[in-house]
Amino acid sequence: MKISIFGLGYVGAVTMGCLSRNGHHVIGVDVNEEKVAALRKGTSPIVEPGLAEAIAEGQAAGRLDAVTDHDDAIRRSDVSIVCVGTPSRDNGDLDLQYVETVAGQIAESLRGLDKHHTLIFRSTMLPGSTRGLAEGLLRDLVEAGRLTVCFYPEFLREGTAVRDFEHPSIAALGTRDGCTVPEELAELVGDDIAIVTWESAELLKYACNSFHAVKVAFANEIGRVGKKAGLNAAAVMELFCRDTVLNLSPYYLRPGNPFGGSCLPKDVRALNRFAVQSGLSTPLIGSLMQSNRDHADALQRVIRRTGSGDVAIIGLAFKHNTDDLRESPMVDVVRDLIPSGRKVRIYDPALKPEKLTGSNRAQIREKLPGFTDLLCNRLDEAVGPAELVVAAHPCVGIDELRTCITSRHIVLDVNGWPALKELPSRYDGFLW
Ligand SMILES: NC(=O)c1ccc[n+]([C@@H]2O[C@H](COP(=O)([O-])OP(=O)(O)OC[C@H]3O[C@@H](n4cnc5c(N)ncnc54)[C@H](O)[C@@H]3O)[C@@H](O)[C@H]2O)c1
Repeated sequence: MKISIFGLGYVGAVTMGCLSRNGHHVIGVDVNEEKVAALRKGTSPIVEPGLAEAIAEGQAAGRLDAVTDHDDAIRRSDVSIVCVGTPSRDNGDLDLQYVETVAGQIAESLRGLDKHHTLIFRSTMLPGSTRGLAEGLLRDLVEAGRLTVCFYPEFLREGTAVRDFEHPSIAALGTRDGCTVPEELAELVGDDIAIVTWESAELLKYACNSFHAVKVAFANEIGRVGKKAGLNAAAVMELFCRDTVLNLSPYYLRPGNPFGGSCLPKDVRALNRFAVQSGLSTPLIGSLMQSNRDHADALQRVIRRTGSGDVAIIGLAFKHNTDDLRESPMVDVVRDLIPSGRKVRIYDPALKPEKLTGSNRAQIREKLPGFTDLLCNRLDEAVGPAELVVAAHPCVGIDELRTCITSRHIVLDVNGWPALKELPSRYDGFLW
């Protein structure tokens, strides 16, 4: 393929070296003449293990060139990859000026040529940025079918960039329809890639980097707490990482219910108090309860706004297969709804009020004294009169729900239960 690469920094230079070594004809474009001159000589403009060799190989094979003239590069290529910087402004806003400049230059060159071109943005950009460009300054070319626009997030790490480029930890391509790879890119992106919308690909990159930051900050906060407690937190975290069921796994990484129950809230509070009393600053751990409260508030707002009739709560306990009501977010949902005058009915087959004991019974008696009057023995008793059905967790089977959900119901899926979409009701997802 004939590919031009705009921006020859850490991402662009690695992309150039690797693609040229893989047999593609690559033309780099940068405003920085030093970088262009280095690449023209077959040397790397940055320090990165393995990159000098890849660039030298590409150059020796006659497959690598670098220029400062965007027109020249566009004329000689069918695909462009944009790797210019997207720095922060002083106020934290994302600065897209370099991407916009380059997109404008590419468009300008293409308007003077009679050919189709594919433009891949690899620079990290917030959700909506690619659409903004495709429907803004690139609009005429996109609408005329002369330009295909994709967003292809880059996940390489400096220091291991060449290896990461060749073996990415994850690969996703954002396209306009979110399901088809443009034919001309099939060879470049391979088969093992998720095809999603522009916006999903953009958010994926931020989700990954934010999560990496959360991991680092979390390990460091546990490190500070551990040191204060006089122990080796590195060894504790090593042990922590051995749990690949709950810790290093997809578990707890699905958007849905706020957390609740008898352990998570209490233990997060205790650890935070220990840190505060020890004079430590652990803002990540310290923000978890607030984050969870904000999430619960968001859920309550959605429920308040959805319909105006009776409400059925499917699942009152903090998760299914338990009767533990302690700090269950659904208990707060019910408390929030009662003053509104909307009649609430609850179905949760694991709950047997006469069997509740200890602090579980004490807490629910204090928080929701009349809850047994709201509890229904049968699903249809709860759902039948309701307009809104709040499905907090799958404490009933979908077939059972099918017997009593009709087209006049609205089902709000709080925790990601795709089978609910098959019901004849209107389906609303809390976070999707
Ligand atoms: N560095 C990383 O590890 C990494 C990893 C993944 C994604 N990213 C993302 O990739 C993008 C690029 O990052 P980077 O670290 O390579 O940036 P960088 O600052 O090293 O390089 C950007 C290059 O773009 C050039 N440039 C600016 N305006 C230009 C123009 N009009 N025409 C041509 N070139 C122009 C600059 O001269 C510079 O050489 C960013 O959005 C970044 O967030 C970076």
